[in-house]
Amino acid sequence: MKFQLLLITLVFAFSLYLFAIVDADPASDRAALLALRLAVGGRILLWNTSAASPCSWTGVFCEKDRVTRLRLPGMGLSGTLPLGIGNLTELQTLSLRFNAVNGSIPPDFVNLVNLRYLYLQGNFFSGQIPEFLFNMQNLVRLNLAHNNFSGEISPSFNNLTRLDTLYLENNNLTGAIPDLNAPPLGQFNVSDNKLTGPIPARFSHLDASAFEGNSLCGEPLQACPGTGTDSGSKLSGGAIAGIVIGSLIGLLLILLILFFFCRKKSSGDNQLKDTATVKRADVEIPAGNIARDSGNAGASYSATAKGDARSSGTMNLVFFGKVSKVFDLEDLLRASAEVLGKGTFGTTYKASIEIGVVAAVKRLKDVTAPEREFREKIEEVGKMVHENLVPLRAYYYSRDEKLLVYDYMPMGSLSALLHGTHPFSGLSF
Ligand SMILES: *[C@@H]1O[C@H](CO)[C@@H](O)[C@H](O)[C@H]1NC(C)=O
Ligand SMILES: *[C@@H]1O[C@H](CO)[C@@H](O)[C@H](O)[C@H]1NC(C)=O
Ligand SMILES: *[C@@H]1O[C@H](CO)[C@@H](O)[C@H](O)[C@H]1NC(C)=O
Ligand SMILES: *[C@@H]1O[C@H](CO)[C@@H](O)[C@H](O)[C@H]1NC(C)=O
Ligand SMILES: *[C@@H]1O[C@H](CO)[C@@H](O)[C@H](O)[C@H]1NC(C)=O
Ligand SMILES: *[C@@H]1O[C@H](CO)[C@@H](O)[C@H](O)[C@H]1NC(C)=O
Ligand SMILES: *[C@@H]1O[C@H](CO)[C@@H](O)[C@H](O)[C@H]1NC(C)=O
Repeated sequence: MKFQLLLITLVFAFSLYLFAIVDADPASDRAALLALRLAVGGRILLWNTSAASPCSWTGVFCEKDRVTRLRLPGMGLSGTLPLGIGNLTELQTLSLRFNAVNGSIPPDFVNLVNLRYLYLQGNFFSGQIPEFLFNMQNLVRLNLAHNNFSGEISPSFNNLTRLDTLYLENNNLTGAIPDLNAPPLGQFNVSDNKLTGPIPARFSHLDASAFEGNSLCGEPLQACPGTGTDSGSKLSGGAIAGIVIGSLIGLLLILLILFFFCRKKSSGDNQLKDTATVKRADVEIPAGNIARDSGNAGASYSATAKGDARSSGTMNLVFFGKVSKVFDLEDLLRASAEVLGKGTFGTTYKASIEIGVVAAVKRLKDVTAPEREFREKIEEVGKMVHENLVPLRAYYYSRDEKLLVYDYMPMGSLSALLHGTHPFSGLSF
């Protein structure tokens, strides 16, 4: 008995299964398409109805003999959609845009559970946006724009948690835009309807053109009147003015401070008056007529160095390491120099030597170390080779002038190294 019962159950289940297959087979899709053709006509009248499968018909796309996409844009369809399209249960894309279809969306659309893209824009659909749409959980794009839909935008759009595009512009929709927080809604347009009230905050970042042609208010349109946001916006206008004026005053103050700072600095350093005020000053001075210029405006490191080199016997630069003597003191003094910056220990120049070498020369100030100690320290530092250290190539020492010659590094690291925590910081000069 039990075995017979099981057999009966199995046969019943199998027949149900068969029925289900018959219910959703290619022939069923074909029948649905023929019903559509009969109702709306247009260029789909050209479909070859003697073909057994509809999959070769214009605008019909199949996968595994089931219609998955039906794209009939601008095909001159008119009249009202018939019942039956809901039988295309594998349909993922339905486009009927830019035709002349009127009436409402048939209720059997609710069976299109796989539908992701529904494009009905540019027709004469009218009536409310049907509630059954909110059961189509897979909808990603819904375009009902440029129709004659009326009524309110239902808060049930929140049911469509995958809906990324909702275009409702150019309809006859009324009421307020509901708070739609569930759908991602990357694209949203409700312009040219009869909507009223405030725009929900989540849409405030959208372009104003998405809301124009209604009686809406709030960002991105004008603030809503009489709700306190108006005075708020006036206040924020004042705040903006305040911020602008404040920034201007701040900028002026900074400029003033900079101005006074520069003036103070330049007057405090008589020896380099020119280079302090003129940012890029070529101070090339012919070796012959500089000896007496020391201390005057226009003096550079070359001035005293030259004079001193003559008076004392120390005539040249001391080079370090494997670098051979590529230039001498005369070359250095003839080089055109440009102030790179001023630091605690003296001014640094960029010296462009005639032979094509560019060096950074630091002129140490207030160094009172005796010559022997100075040489020792400098030689110690000169021998150091470190990736973060600007190589010290040579030095010059005399009673009145102490020069350090470095490799020139155009990236600004030089000035950081020479003015701040450079290896001489620890020395007592
Ligand atoms: C219509 O389809 C039938 C069957 O596939 C074919 O014999 C006939 O040539 C087709 N007619 C046209 C106009 O393509
Ligand atoms: C759609 O399917 C139902 C049964 O599932 C059937 O009664 C109806 O005739 C079909 N409509 C069309 C247009 O094929
Ligand atoms: C749809 O348009 C047809 C003419 O194409 C017209 O006869 C019919 O009344 C219209 N239906 C609606 C609901 O507007
Ligand atoms: C929203 O979806 C649920 C199923 O997830 C359904 O039961 C409910 O009726 C839908 N709401 C509307 C308004 O369609
Ligand atoms: C739009 O629909 C309304 C009814 O909701 C109707 O009175 C009106 O004539 C329709 N307009 C157009 C252009 O179809
Ligand atoms: C909007 O709907 C009203 C009736 O609800 C109708 O009188 C009007 O013609 C419609 N507007 C358009 C542009 O169809
Ligand atoms: C909204 O639709 C209107 C009318 O089609 C169009 O002019 C506007 O550019 C659209 N705005 C956005 C943000 O999609």
